[in-house]
Amino acid sequence: MKAISPNLEGSKDIRGRLLRDLRISVTDRCNFRCRYCMPREVFGEDYAFLPHEALLTFEEITRLARVFARLGVHKLRLTGGEPLLRRDLETLVQMLRGIPGIDDIAMTTNGSLLTEQRAKSLQKAGLTRISVSLDALNDDIFMTMNDVHFPASRVLTAISAAQAAGLTPVKVNMVVKRGINDSQVVPMAEHFRHSGQILRFIEYMDVGNSNGWCMDDVLPAEEILSTVHRQWPLQPLFPRTPGEVATRYAYVDGGGEIGVIASVTRPFCAGCTRARLTCEGQLYTCLFGNQGHNLRECLRRGDSDEQLYEFIAQIWGNRADRYSELRLAHTPNSQTKIEMSRIGG
Ligand code: GTP
Ligand code: 5AD
Ligand code: SF4
Ligand code: SF4
Repeated sequence: MKAISPNLEGSKDIRGRLLRDLRISVTDRCNFRCRYCMPREVFGEDYAFLPHEALLTFEEITRLARVFARLGVHKLRLTGGEPLLRRDLETLVQMLRGIPGIDDIAMTTNGSLLTEQRAKSLQKAGLTRISVSLDALNDDIFMTMNDVHFPASRVLTAISAAQAAGLTPVKVNMVVKRGINDSQVVPMAEHFRHSGQILRFIEYMDVGNSNGWCMDDVLPAEEILSTVHRQWPLQPLFPRTPGEVATRYAYVDGGGEIGVIASVTRPFCAGCTRARLTCEGQLYTCLFGNQGHNLRECLRRGDSDEQLYEFIAQIWGNRADRYSELRLAHTPNSQTKIEMSRIGG
């Protein structure tokens, strides 16, 4: 078999954006029913989640990740649904960490299954970082949002477990919905100041088709920042890496840093280097995509690594996505979009 050498210059799309990150969803299931992501009315008892054989195996995921690494990807992020619902995730992490060129393997989780022991075993397997979602400290508000009666204190324990295991810096993702949890912006900021954990406020986005998104529900990053700034003055920080989704700010008094992910009011498509692989092996080049590319079919019909490489290179080469920029210009293409729980955010 002909060996494929790495693409040293990287793969660029038609807007000149390099392929640098791959977000891998490992399951479409979740034990939460966040109103903005998997509302009960849609994701009820009889919802048809994917059968196990439809999911990519660890071997298939690893094989694809290897090809992506040759195309310039250096950072992997495991997502879901809830990634810790996939059995034996440590084995996958171990398989991924051996891939030449991959220097960062992160995970985004709701924290509900992240015990101290689990955090340690993931770290030992090769996981480097964790982001934990937490939308409120107040239990009434948090439970209204997760809709499964899950208390905030248990997510806080998971965050500490991740930090103790060295999966740092731990990032905490708070989706802010106007009128639902905006009262929690200041308490959350207060809680995470001086903790070494980085709180990121996320503007509520119109992902998928289930959450009934409307612009009135979005609390713009500008408002979030001024609310925090009034309590504890902030100063902007330079981006650590190009194309970073969060804009970073430091507390002037040395309380640490926060971030805002302002995909609605300040889109960051121009620097978007992310590809997304759904749990059933569809490749999306945008979070708001309505058309995936079926890599599972390529794998299962026996395509060679070289064929996979060429196929993915061609998909990325033709990529023109900039959904959030178009949304800001009021011209988004809002055909049926992939659901968040399948694409993993
Ligand atoms: P690091 O930069 O590696 O720390 O990770 P991250 O911030 O990309 O990952 P995380 O899963 O924590 O994402 C935080 C939020 O940013 C989630 O709500 C994502 O859906 C959102 N996000 C991540 N990438 C993109 C993107 O390319 N476009 C948009 N619109 N949102 C994104
Ligand atoms: N808007 C913004 N962020 C969202 N997330 C899930 N759905 C939405 C949405 N509609 C967040 C989760 C998690 C991350 C992967 O995406 O809370 O932190
Ligand atoms: Fe689950 Fe995360 Fe979606 Fe909430 S936002 S339902 S925790 S996948
Ligand atoms: Fe990238 Fe699409 Fe998000 Fe823009 S909207 S930053 S192109 S994933």
